[in-house]
Amino acid sequence: METEKYYDPDWRDRFFQKWHGVDVEGILPVSAIASDELAATSRGTFYQPIPVRYLNRILKSAKSTGIPFRNFVDMGCGKGKACLYMARAGAFRRVIGVEISSSLIAIARDNRNQMGNTANIEFVQADAQTYFLPDGPTLVFLFNPFDAVALSRFISVNLQHFKRHGSIIAYAFDIDREVLKNSGFQTLWRDTKNRLSFYSMT
Ligand SMILES: C[S@@+](CC[C@H](N)C(=O)[O-])C[C@H]1O[C@@H](n2cnc3c(N)ncnc32)[C@H](O)[C@@H]1O
Repeated sequence: METEKYYDPDWRDRFFQKWHGVDVEGILPVSAIASDELAATSRGTFYQPIPVRYLNRILKSAKSTGIPFRNFVDMGCGKGKACLYMARAGAFRRVIGVEISSSLIAIARDNRNQMGNTANIEFVQADAQTYFLPDGPTLVFLFNPFDAVALSRFISVNLQHFKRHGSIIAYAFDIDREVLKNSGFQTLWRDTKNRLSFYSMT
């Protein structure tokens, strides 16, 4: 898949993994993380972790919106790297990772136990297409987790949430961003070079 050639971790990613003693790096194909049947229904991509420098930027931009975020939710959290990072940053009351693959959720939970100071992280095994976001202003993170059909299903299930709570979507490798625009989201900003963008409904 196209994402693969943009996988370019640097010293920050190696440091994060080593310092916290967690297992978040590496690429895993769909066949390694889910049954064929599950892969077909989830419409998902393979596992690949988001680089730390993106997480720095996302956190900074989220803070600059002035929104008093209650939750951080990573839809398709994989081994939990983004959740671990955000929990340590301390900017959210709840940090939730939603992941369809049971093997990845198991690794994410091991990582949470390994890291410590992560009591506010929940890792939930669920299909994003039927997952309801928690109440309260939420920073929803998507790192190109699934295709446009699954994305539009996730949005339609949570449309009322976005209207009511003013939550924001941070979308990395934002290839299906048209889905968001067609659903009524506005682009707050977009970094074309890094394909990172923020969206809100209000
Ligand atoms: C590109 S990885 C992103 C990992 C993580 N968000 C990060 O940034 O480190 C995409 C993840 O989405 C998961 N996924 C794919 N389809 C899904 C679905 N329908 N519901 C929940 N998770 C899904 C995949 O199993 C994979 O772990």
